Amino acid sequence: MMKRLFALVVIILGGTVTAAMAQGSVTGQYEYMNHCAACHGEGADGKGPLVTFFKEPVPDLTVLALNNDGVFPFLETMLIVDGRSGLRGHGGTMPVWGDTFEAEAVEQAGVYGAETIARGRLLSLVEYLATVQQD
Ligand code: HEC
Repeated sequence: MMKRLFALVVIILGGTVTAAMAQGSVTGQYEYMNHCAACHGEGADGKGPLVTFFKEPVPDLTVLALNNDGVFPFLETMLIVDGRSGLRGHGGTMPVWGDTFEAEAVEQAGVYGAETIARGRLLSLVEYLATVQQD
């Protein structure tokens, strides 16, 4: 039963990630609009409706590549958004998405499957961010 469930999760997740990459990360865009836009803005420019509530500035996420010699820092962004590794801008207001996504997935897929789902969601999000970078 668990094996079958795991296989199903891998198929669904594989399909989601592949489809997301093929379609300019539609899944990632959906995740972004639901979980990130309130703070970082619909255009990822750091001008979301909630920014007035924070003391610290909310970063513009369209300049991650510009600030890294024109190369989108994929892995670093994954780790920052995940948050569980402790790699953060200044580690304040931003939720730890790795924990949130994993907790949401435990009921669906058990502890090991949940990690896979959480990483898939993080991957599609960061893939989406890579598509909104300024030149
Ligand atoms: C509650 C408001 C809030 C939400 C929601 C939020 N962020 Fe953030 N984010 C921040 C703040 C504030 C910072 C800067 C301080 C820090 O790193 O904690 C930040 C930092 C970042 C950074 C580092 C940027 C840099 O220049 O170092 C990335 C990448 C990022 N967020 C992506 C995301 C993604 C992707 C989501 C959605 C899954 C998200 N954020 C949701 C408030 C938020």
